[in-house]
Amino acid sequence: MSTSHVLILAAGKGTRMKSGRPKVLHQVAGAPMIDYVLTTAASLGAATRTVVVGHEADLLRSALAAYPDLRFVLQQPQLGTAHAVMQAEPLFAGVRGTLVLLSGDVPLLSADTLRTLLARHQETGAAATVLTAVVDNPFGYGRVVRDGDEVLRIVEQRDATPGEREIREINSGIYAFDLEPLFPALGQVASDNAQQEYYLPDLVAIYRRAGRRVAAYAVDRPEEILGINTRGELAAMSERVWQARRVALMASGVTLEDPATTYVGKDVVVGADTVIRPGVSLLGRTTVGARAVIHAGVRIVDSELGDDVTVLDHCLVVGARIAEGVAIGPFAHIRPESEICAGARVGNFVELKKTRLGAGSKAGHLAYLGDATIGEKVNIGAGTITCNYDGVNKNRTVIEDGVFIGSDTQLIAPVTIGRGAYVAAGSSITKDVPAGALGIARGRQENKEGWATLKKVQQKAEKKT
Ligand code: UD1
Ligand code: CA
Repeated sequence: MSTSHVLILAAGKGTRMKSGRPKVLHQVAGAPMIDYVLTTAASLGAATRTVVVGHEADLLRSALAAYPDLRFVLQQPQLGTAHAVMQAEPLFAGVRGTLVLLSGDVPLLSADTLRTLLARHQETGAAATVLTAVVDNPFGYGRVVRDGDEVLRIVEQRDATPGEREIREINSGIYAFDLEPLFPALGQVASDNAQQEYYLPDLVAIYRRAGRRVAAYAVDRPEEILGINTRGELAAMSERVWQARRVALMASGVTLEDPATTYVGKDVVVGADTVIRPGVSLLGRTTVGARAVIHAGVRIVDSELGDDVTVLDHCLVVGARIAEGVAIGPFAHIRPESEICAGARVGNFVELKKTRLGAGSKAGHLAYLGDATIGEKVNIGAGTITCNYDGVNKNRTVIEDGVFIGSDTQLIAPVTIGRGAYVAAGSSITKDVPAGALGIARGRQENKEGWATLKKVQQKAEKKT
């Protein structure tokens, strides 16, 4: 087999999206559509991978910075798909082999189909092989005009005659090209069409005229090559992908009480016998253990939850670790770099940020715990606030094992509450509290005996006069 190279077209404005952002960065089921294309491309083991960028090129480049060894080519202005490929010519000077061309807006292509396309192309020795599909509604796609097995040309929707519009075999926008004749032939593509653009599919007719063979490979599952041009299509494709994940999750032993409102990202792992109630999103690199219960309206992103965890209604958990058996919520907000250890409890309206809540510790109600290290068996009273920010720096609060923090306490960081200490309710703690001590920092109460009774007598007397 000859060497293969992948080129992905992603420079177009995506006019029909009516968006300021590159189309390929719009999300399909929780991930940018181009991520799907890049993942499939990677499976091919090609020698190089290159993306043609143009519209909002810098935004796209930086969004793809995490992909190693990705090359970029700039297409400015964007004059059509053939013009886009031509911009890559300098990169392929003197390079031989196969160029696999992918479209950034066709995300569902499978690795299997791509491998088969490449294998067929290399077997037949055609100058180009077009991936096609026979669909019920070909509207908007380029139509494949054939004479038996021979592909004669591809005609765009806007340029097709009424007869050609009846053709149901469409161009996927995915091709394998022999590199050798490709760039010279691209030079012959003209822009005398409805959009005044240089159309890559015009290569088919150009190759035919030059006596070169063009093959077509029709996919079995047309849904793989659906392209996204509008927000309606984006939503429809997202739904298709979400639905496939729901089905897979249920098949793996997870209960979805309302599958239609459950949204699960592609890298999410959920253990068997976990129950997911309505309106739940599990996204990013999230793992949920077995036998967990995720109640309604919860969103969990990039987090690790152990077995038997309960997340009560309307919690948001991002970048956190929750040990097995822990219950949180309702209405808890667990922010990045937080860890809730075994046997701990986080109740309603509690926010954690960069905070470790030790084993068996409890923050039951209405608290903000930020930049805090909290030991084991600590009780955090209702309304406790770690004042971690002094306007310039974030400071840490350390609460050692067995501490009791009374309700409505402010812990003004940096501050340490020693092992087993008590902090009296309503305190503003500015100094460390030693182990075993009571810290109390609040106005002292004074009772004025008879004051209220006397006041009422005076008020009645004033009314009479
Ligand atoms: C294209 C094909 C059509 C095919 C369909 C499949 C052409 C002329 N038509 O139509 O036959 O059925 O895909 O989905 O190729 N792009 C650039 N630079 C440009 C223009 C486009 O990089 O100057 C990129 C886009 O970002 C996109 C891809 O090429 O990723 C396809 O462009 P798009 O305008 O969506 O082509 P379609 O009209 O869908
Ligand atoms: Ca398209």
